Amino acid sequence: MADQDTFAGYRVVVTGGGGGIGGEISRRFAAAGAEVTVADLNAEAARQVAQDITARGGSAAAWPVDVTDQDAVGRLFATLGESGQTLDVLVNCAARASDVPFDRLPAAEFDRDVTATLTSAFLCIQAALPLLLRSAREAREAREARDARSPNVVSVASVNGLAAFGNEAYSAAKAGLINLTRNLAVRYGPAGVRFNAVAPGTVQTPIWEQRLAARPDLLERIEGLYPLRRVGTPGDVAAACLFLASPGASWITGQTLAVDGGVTAGHSDLIQAIFGDA
Ligand SMILES: NC(=O)c1ccc[n+]([C@@H]2O[C@H](COP(=O)([O-])OP(=O)(O)OC[C@H]3O[C@@H](n4cnc5c(N)ncnc54)[C@H](O)[C@@H]3O)[C@@H](O)[C@H]2O)c1
Repeated sequence: MADQDTFAGYRVVVTGGGGGIGGEISRRFAAAGAEVTVADLNAEAARQVAQDITARGGSAAAWPVDVTDQDAVGRLFATLGESGQTLDVLVNCAARASDVPFDRLPAAEFDRDVTATLTSAFLCIQAALPLLLRSAREAREAREARDARSPNVVSVASVNGLAAFGNEAYSAAKAGLINLTRNLAVRYGPAGVRFNAVAPGTVQTPIWEQRLAARPDLLERIEGLYPLRRVGTPGDVAAACLFLASPGASWITGQTLAVDGGVTAGHSDLIQAIFGDA
């Protein structure tokens, strides 16, 4: 758990910040001292998260934005830059997943998932880079970079980007996000900007509402498939994001941390099939 001043003086932008996981990431950064911009397509959800944070004494502002819209994304980061503010952490958390089966998935729907999940992160990172690089230069000048503040990007990927769990378009986009993270870590490491990702397994958030409406026992059935026998919480994912963004992770870049109750560690059904109950 981050201390209440781990991110004091940090400016953090969280895309999808009005959602289940993004909301918790925003709240935890603010609780650890950061000034948080809660960026989300859903203006009301972003406003509620920002209001929740300020009601608890934290610092946050809602920013309604479609992160697939390059001009709108440009305006968000340009506004931060123009007002002389720095940017220390960008969290890419917005995404979209179509449940249409692969053999009937229209190309336009495939594109929408990839655009909302991968291209959006590209647009945000590209627009945020001048600010992140400026923060890195300032940190270097203050001789902080080695042991303290290192501007960075944390992207919320998914176990879907690591193995086959359905939702092919979304999964391919998440795999792309993991690779983008590695490439940018290598490209911008010398300039002092870090890039990491987290890969959550099943986390109960509003994204599951539609599936739960059709199959109310779905999460209980899923829990038995996780080695740790539970699905994740937004807090599980937020804690990993805060660690990767923190000074304690200042020598970690290009990594993807699975936050998944062990589901990508191995296949218990396969082990059972080989060894039975023994
Ligand atoms: N919940 C899970 O089981 C799970 C598992 C693995 C990964 N993830 C990832 O975690 C992240 C958050 O998911 P969640 O479960 O909190 O879902 P959520 O639906 O609660 O949150 C997603 C948020 O992203 C916003 N958003 C979507 N498209 C956007 C756009 N174009 N511009 C701006 N904002 C946009 C939505 O308005 C929403 O507030 C996503 O990247 C998702 O892929 C979730």
